[in-house]
Amino acid sequence: MTQALIVYSTRNGETKKLAEIIAEGLRFSAISVSLKDVAEIKRETDLEGYDIYVFGSSTYHGEMMNRMKTFLFLAERAELKNKIGGSFGSFGWSGEAAERIFDTMKNIYCMNMVSTPLMLKASGVDGGIKVAQAYGKELAAKVE
Ligand SMILES: Cc1cc2nc3c(=O)[nH]c(=O)nc-3n(C[C@H](O)[C@H](O)[C@H](O)COP(=O)(O)O)c2cc1C
Repeated sequence: MTQALIVYSTRNGETKKLAEIIAEGLRFSAISVSLKDVAEIKRETDLEGYDIYVFGSSTYHGEMMNRMKTFLFLAERAELKNKIGGSFGSFGWSGEAAERIFDTMKNIYCMNMVSTPLMLKASGVDGGIKVAQAYGKELAAKVE
């Protein structure tokens, strides 16, 4: 069975909600999903054994959360080349975090990325639930 890992960093829980809805979209496509707070990832071997990786953080002061920055340095040492990837994050007005994570996954880890990062203010507005589920399905559709 295809395995996906979603790692999120959140302050007030909105980005965790997005992670849970992306997971639903993946599961609709018969993909097994592990959902982890970034604090649960202690070493690069914790990233072994997955086919799809989705990393997310909310944006504060124009940046991703510090925990996600530290995690991205750890993930550099994992074997992520050509793995399927996507990024996401809840935001208020500028939403840099999801874009910066996406760029790192694409340019540093050389992953097989979906078209864009998923940026949503909250799951409960602007049809966020459907959009986040669709993102999970888009990730699943990249599996050959
Ligand atoms: C002090 C503070 C700074 C923020 N800075 C930004 C910002 O620079 N850009 C942005 O898009 N949103 C910003 N936000 C809004 C958060 O990203 C938004 O509330 C988001 O939903 C929080 O998600 P979380 O619950 O997953 O942490 C800021 C919020 C606070 C409280």
